[in-house]
Amino acid sequence: MGMTFDFSGQTVFVAGGTSGINLGVAQAFARAGARVAVLSRRQEKVDAAVEGLQGLGAEAAGFAADVRDYEAVEKALGAAHQRFGNFDVLVSGAAGNFPAKATGMSANAFKSVVEIDLLGTYHVLRAAHPLMKKPGGSIVNISAPQAFLPMNMQMHVCSAKAGVDMITRVGAMEWGREGLRVNSVVPGPIDDTEGMQRLAPTEAAREAVMDSVPMGRYGKASEIADCCMWLASPAAAYVTGAVIPVDGGWSLGGAQAMGQGFEQLAKPQ
Ligand code: COA
Ligand code: NAP
Repeated sequence: MGMTFDFSGQTVFVAGGTSGINLGVAQAFARAGARVAVLSRRQEKVDAAVEGLQGLGAEAAGFAADVRDYEAVEKALGAAHQRFGNFDVLVSGAAGNFPAKATGMSANAFKSVVEIDLLGTYHVLRAAHPLMKKPGGSIVNISAPQAFLPMNMQMHVCSAKAGVDMITRVGAMEWGREGLRVNSVVPGPIDDTEGMQRLAPTEAAREAVMDSVPMGRYGKASEIADCCMWLASPAAAYVTGAVIPVDGGWSLGGAQAMGQGFEQLAKPQ
């Protein structure tokens, strides 16, 4: 069980909030009383997420859109705003990942990840900015250790997530005086997620990851949610432009070493 926060009467939008970590974040805000809207590509995932959020007693809405498509993002955010009012909290976490050498993927593969992670984050923040509560709104980008640790077979993700953290920092500078805060949360390896399934698919790889985390265990989506809720709470009223690892110490070095194990995961070209 996470910490206790109260977001009743507040509106939270989670881009990419239909599975894994981001869904855990959406559910935590729902449990804390917020109205929650989620967006992702696949209608069936959107419907399942909304049903689950409503099952927690929250008012919830979902939108099927690709973050690479600015007009679709703008339309979805507009519809959520019309229904739930200004966004108190925006979490942007849609992303894609696979292990591949820079020369072991096509130019289109690299572009796909940059378009989802980096351009998608810009699209979501750009379209959400006029709809955010100001002053008082909180934006959280979901980053990754790849943003600051060069990692084998992750050139696409490293470059995209480094850009995401720069969106966080420049956004914090440009929007600070409007009373809008922007921060990044950097998850460590989180249990039961698509991301870790792709990067550590075997039991041996799972154990190697655990060995590489100073705290010796995987994290939980609820632990990422706790940090997002803290950032959105008055307790973090003076925190902006921060990039905060929530990773059991993984980004102190272990995360980077993990990349060496990716060789065997590469798709034959
Ligand atoms: N190794 C090398 N290239 C790969 C790859 C892999 N494991 N997986 C996909 N690609 C390439 C494809 O071959 C394609 O390139 P091509 O057109 O030159 O053949 C390109 O990436 C785009 O793939 P496609 O499946 O057409 O794109 P998409 O837009 O449907 O999917 C991805 C985007 C590739 C990022 C996909 O993995 C995805 O949707 N991921 C979301 C879920 C996820 O990654 N979760 C973890 C969270 S970080
Ligand atoms: P996940 O379950 O695959 O979550 C990705 C979400 O984004 C899904 O809801 C997916 O739904 C959506 N999405 C993907 N591409 C999209 C697009 N083009 N447009 C709109 N939505 C899209 O993965 P996860 O592992 O929980 O990762 C969540 C976030 O945490 C990511 O930002 C990831 O980089 C970060 N992270 C994860 C870990 C980890 O341990 N898993 C570690 C560090 C950082 P659809 O398929 O329906 O689009």
